[in-house]
Order: sequence, then structure tokens, then C-alpha cells
Amino acid sequence: SETVTAAVTAFRDGDPVLVHDFTDREGETDIIYPARAIDADAIARLRNDAGGLICTAVSDTVATTLELPFLEDIIEHPTTADHDLGYDSRSSFSLPVNHRETFTGITDDDRAQTIHRLGTVAEAADAGEYTAEDFAAEFRTPGHVNILRGAPKLLTDRRGHTELGLALADAADCAPAVVVCEMLDDATGNATAPTDAQTYAEKNDIVFIDGAAVVTELG
Ligand code: 5RP
Ligand code: CA
Ligand code: ZN
Repeated sequence: SETVTAAVTAFRDGDPVLVHDFTDREGETDIIYPARAIDADAIARLRNDAGGLICTAVSDTVATTLELPFLEDIIEHPTTADHDLGYDSRSSFSLPVNHRETFTGITDDDRAQTIHRLGTVAEAADAGEYTAEDFAAEFRTPGHVNILRGAPKLLTDRRGHTELGLALADAADCAPAVVVCEMLDDATGNATAPTDAQTYAEKNDIVFIDGAAVVTELG
């Protein structure tokens, strides 16, 4: 479809895309960027115009190479005993990290540095040119950028923003690392309504796309 093509082109150009998942899933619209397109201005847009949690999703291959586990698999604590998510069978959360050259890790510059470098590292890891040891030498946990781990077969396995974003990156030949952040409504604190997200997209010349269209064409 024209919209999927436009979304893939946007990623190729380093521009963000608004992705609404499904009304019967989270029913949320995330602003999603290829990780290597992130700079301090992009972080400012995410926290001011999206307002949710800023995360960086990497492919299963990259996560395996970098030894990035699912958080719930490594934390031994009663809070991880029940898997009772209302909208999916598992969360994609892995470790939260900061680049070691950041100070607090939370400023726009710090988060941009961590995420931009994650994009470059993901490409190198995907090519087998970057190891888990390299990763530990360059990043520390805890940190302020939540890494998400994509499902192995992407949209065949799971249809979250994690996989929707990574599928778009794959189609655009971008590195397998994308930044996602939920759009929240400033007035209500709830997820931004898809119609309002579309209005924001038009105003800012950004592509808005439904998860269903991504699954149909790239799934
Ligand atoms: C991290 C989240 C978001 O929903 C994000 O979109 C990634 O998760 P998912 O792949 O489940 O949609 O929980 O803030
Ligand atoms: Ca806001
Ligand atoms: Zn989501």
C-alpha cells in the first residue's frame, strides 16, 4: 500500500513514523524512529510530543549476540512470578542501559548518545562484528534507555510495536534497532486517540500507519 511504502521511505530518510498497533491489543500509537536517526532534538520530540517510555528495540539476533535477555527471565523476584499481561503473552523488556560516556544518562544529549550508538552497535552485531564483551565495555546497566527484544520471527511471532518497528526497519534496510515511545494525551493521561495522532501526523508531515497494514505487507 501507499502508506507502507511511505513509512518505509520515511525510515530510509531517517524520519519518524506513527504506528498504531491494534484496537484489540494496546490500542496505542507510538512514535518510532530508526535508532541511528536519533539526536537530541528527536529525544525532545519523544518526551514532549509522545510522553511515554522511550525504549530501543533490537532484533532477536542482535539481542542474542549481545547477550541481552528478557528481564523477566533473569530477575528472581516474586513480582515476576505471574505472567498476567492483559494484551500479549509476554513483555519485550530487556535490560535498561546507558552509554558509559554519559553522565546521568537522562538528558536529551545523554539519551541520544546511548540510542544513536545502540543503532550502530546493532548493525555491527548483526554483521557478527561486535560481541557481548564489546557491549559490556561500552554500556552500563542500570540505565535510562530500556532495551526491548524483538521476537525471532518478528510479526509471525508477536505483533507489538517492538516487532512492527523492527519490520519497518528491515524493509527499509535500516539497522535492526528502533526507538519507540507511546503517545499520551496531555489532557487525560490516557493513550492518545488514533484520530488525534493522525492530526498530529498531518500537522508535522509524519506518516501515520496502522499495525494491520504493516502485517498485511511485511508480515
Ligand atoms: C514500552 C512498551 C510499549 O508498549 C512499546 O510499544 C513496546 O511494547 P510492545 O512491543 O508490547 O508494543 O510497553 O514502553
Ligand atoms: Ca506532552
Ligand atoms: Zn506498544
